[in-house]
Amino acid sequence: MSGLEFSEIPLCPPDVVFGVLDSFNQDPDPNKVNLSIGAYRTDEGDPWVLPIVKATELALAQDVLQDHEYLPISGLTAFLDSSARLVLGASSTIILENRYAAVQTIGGTGAIRIGLGFLKKFSKSNVFYLPTPTWPNHNKILTELGAEIRSYRYYDVDKNCLDEKGMIEDLRAAPEGSTVILHGVAHNPTGMDPTKDQWKQICDVIKERSLTTFVDFAYQGFASGDLDKDAWAVRYFIEQGLNLFIAQSYSKNFGLYNERVGCLTVTCSSPKLASCVKSQLAVLCRTIWSNPSNHGARIVATVLNNPAMFAEWKENLRVMSDRLSQMRQALYDRLRVLGTPGNWDHLLAQIGMFSYTGLKPNQVEIMTKKFHIYLMKSGRISLAGLNSKNLDYVAKGIHEVITTT
Ligand SMILES: Cc1ncc(COP(=O)(O)O)c(C=O)c1O
Repeated sequence: MSGLEFSEIPLCPPDVVFGVLDSFNQDPDPNKVNLSIGAYRTDEGDPWVLPIVKATELALAQDVLQDHEYLPISGLTAFLDSSARLVLGASSTIILENRYAAVQTIGGTGAIRIGLGFLKKFSKSNVFYLPTPTWPNHNKILTELGAEIRSYRYYDVDKNCLDEKGMIEDLRAAPEGSTVILHGVAHNPTGMDPTKDQWKQICDVIKERSLTTFVDFAYQGFASGDLDKDAWAVRYFIEQGLNLFIAQSYSKNFGLYNERVGCLTVTCSSPKLASCVKSQLAVLCRTIWSNPSNHGARIVATVLNNPAMFAEWKENLRVMSDRLSQMRQALYDRLRVLGTPGNWDHLLAQIGMFSYTGLKPNQVEIMTKKFHIYLMKSGRISLAGLNSKNLDYVAKGIHEVITTT
């Protein structure tokens, strides 16, 4: 008799984000619009290889010293050091005093998986707090880890704004030592970030309740176009004496989606502790992917460590973030011109690639069935899918569902 009855294994429903993408790909309608996937597109609707990435790849291809040997388990040193400087700032005391442990990961997802796995193993508390709503994979990772998942209120769907009071109340009620997962910038899916004052309040509660802070940081530079501005909250928390787990992703800001480049940085109270933490993180990496991949991390390390290339990357970043802000503004303007009922100011208060439109699931269904416009059931749209050719069509679609339902 076999130990496993394959006939008893249930079919798992498709991933919510990639499931919508599959439906989009199968739709033959010529007017279809994909507002679901969080990947940058040009105004022509095409993926964009950043010019600085292309130039770096060409240079690396000529480098005779490149080989295909294994990288160290924790990754490329030049990549790790520059990643920590990027998020914390080069003059951060953490950097100057060498008080951080960093490992190269398989995308931002890998950084989240390793960081939460570490906390699951070493934290005294099994309680992890997620915002409602959040990126769905947070839930999946914590479920796989067997963590006790709790949620804190984050977004007020009726008022289309941050639920400041609810968030603070829920965090204040968290048992000491729980871990709270925060989106460091450009909250996915809502696009609604706390203001500086709100971040200060959040920081106070975290200190008051001795919570462990885990920052999912997937959009640095992509949100406002300014790397430092996007790192404000992280750096403020550090200045206030908190130690953080920071999961960085280079998928969006370098456009290196399929190269799977990420970094987990953990700030510590001493260099000695940082070495211990790093050694334990390396054990987790070793048992999941053993050694990280080279190509994407080499590109990022080359760019971050060369001032001229770094400056060019910042220009590339600005192209992307500017186009997303223009699309945000243009959608808002069109809805105002159409006189679409409701207050659409939240579109402008949100930041980054996503917007939580406020469309309800039944309205999303009509958008998709009638107009072939694909978005998340939550009403989240990716502004990257908007362009000068489809803006009017999308705005009219939203107008019609709002006025007829
Ligand atoms: C909030 C958030 N965290 C993490 C990630 C994961 O990034 P990566 O593709 O680098 O694994 C994403 C990607 O969409 C995201 O939106």
